[in-house]
Amino acid sequence: MQGQVVANMFFEPSTRTRSSFELAAKRLSADTLNFAPGTSSLTKGETILDTAKTYLAMGADMMVIRHREAGVPHAIAQEMDRLETNVGILNAGDGQHEHPSQALLDLFTITSLLDFEYPRLKLLADKKIAIVGDIVHSRVARSNIWSLTASGAEVHLAGPPTLVPQEFAEYVQGTGELVETSHGTSGAGEKKENFSQPSIPNRRLFLHWEVEPALKDADFVMTLRLQKERMTAHLLPSLREYHQRYGITRDRLKLCHPGVKILHPGPVNRGVEISSELMDDPEFSLISQQVTSGVAVRMALLYLMGSGKS
Ligand code: CP
Repeated sequence: MQGQVVANMFFEPSTRTRSSFELAAKRLSADTLNFAPGTSSLTKGETILDTAKTYLAMGADMMVIRHREAGVPHAIAQEMDRLETNVGILNAGDGQHEHPSQALLDLFTITSLLDFEYPRLKLLADKKIAIVGDIVHSRVARSNIWSLTASGAEVHLAGPPTLVPQEFAEYVQGTGELVETSHGTSGAGEKKENFSQPSIPNRRLFLHWEVEPALKDADFVMTLRLQKERMTAHLLPSLREYHQRYGITRDRLKLCHPGVKILHPGPVNRGVEISSELMDDPEFSLISQQVTSGVAVRMALLYLMGSGKS
């Protein structure tokens, strides 16, 4: 990718995604531009679209965008189309909506551990995956629900009712499918979100307000951070009570399939969603492998998006 310019435009904090996109671009010999909102001309009132146009004028071929609002990468992509450019836009996490490169690196991390004959369409058809925690605020959960169910896995979501609300079943069901829950079945509803997910035929998705049914015989457990920064005070559970009821601990892992592995997109609230010692146990934890996978997967994304341009 020598001669191509990748602009990392992170309007919201990040450690893993920003650094791995930067490293990925550098390993492919692209030039990188790093944008920090606090020291940028956003502080003087420049708009996001004008910021993007500024990078366009510097010759950006790709923009990697993170923002706290859903749809910002999409809006910038539309503006780039309107200007008849062929700048590539990569969503590095938009609000509570999607985090597609995280879901791809999670899928890569999981499938790297499996023996399978390639090509195989439903790679995870015999796997049960539990996603536990603050589902409603999680773009990682939304993207993973899509990729894991599309790969054939049986996906079980678990968390307190405030963080795994009944309406979530309607959000994730796409069009017309029923989602089975421990507390009834959610019927088909009109899509309420502007940014919903494509429908996946025969997806296997279950919701629980207790963690135990989700963990039973699970092959992989993905635990999620309580996103305090996106919660109003009444949603935030007591952290001690949350850990007691939903925290991933050595005792709870006994419910899972032997050889179970744990994922967490990071950053982690140690001792809340997962016990601190389990997080560091290489027998179970894939957290470091996820970070390492992130560089390779993002190299692939940049390469594919940039191919044909150099
Ligand atoms: N997983 C993830 O998106 O982490 P960062 O916020 O550190 O990029």
